[in-house]
Amino acid sequence: MKKIILFLVLLLPLFYLLATVQSANDPIKYIFTCTGLSAIVILMISLAIAPLKKVINLLKYRRMVGLFAFFYAFLHFINFYVLDAELDFAFVIKETLDKPFVYLGMISFVILLFMAITSTKKLFAKFNKYHKAVYLVLILVTIHSSMAQKVLSSLEYAFILSVIVLLGIRVYKKYVMKETSNKI
Ligand code: HEM
Repeated sequence: MKKIILFLVLLLPLFYLLATVQSANDPIKYIFTCTGLSAIVILMISLAIAPLKKVINLLKYRRMVGLFAFFYAFLHFINFYVLDAELDFAFVIKETLDKPFVYLGMISFVILLFMAITSTKKLFAKFNKYHKAVYLVLILVTIHSSMAQKVLSSLEYAFILSVIVLLGIRVYKKYVMKETSNKI
């Protein structure tokens, strides 16, 4: 697959957001939803690339997919800080302390920021062991998005199920497959 095609596909949620935001009743809430859902779905896709490599090998695109997950998380954060908080830092601190789900979002965002910064070839060689924290982000953002809802919808249940599957594959590969290969 050509890199540019994947790049344009990953930009589709942004184009969709730009094309539809004017007609939203509550644009700030709408931007939270579009950017938040894009970030979490693309993050899950980036984590599914390794387990699916025998079916379709997209390993060489994994970094770009991960960076797009960060990009949408960044837009989500900008929506919070610029449009929702109107650059009022005290409001950001208050919301973070008052609402545990915002706190979880902040922790996840900081970890994603660290991973984006250390994703260059040189820094990745040094910091790759910390990139396992992406599984922590996955759990935290799933709790974050579920807590942001008054009632859980089938989408949140689908996220929870996807997290269980992705973590299950990871644990299976690390412990069960490793044990089997040690015995051989
Ligand atoms: C920078 C820190 C973050 C802040 C301040 C934040 C803030 C928020 C807020 C206020 C909402 C509720 C919007 C509403 O319905 O009124 C929300 C929802 C959500 N956030 Fe975040 N968030 C952060 C980080 C993240 C990250 C890193 C992700 C994903 C990687 C994420 C994914 C989501 C999702 C999926 C929703 C639910 C969207 C929906 O179904 O409407 N958030 N966030």
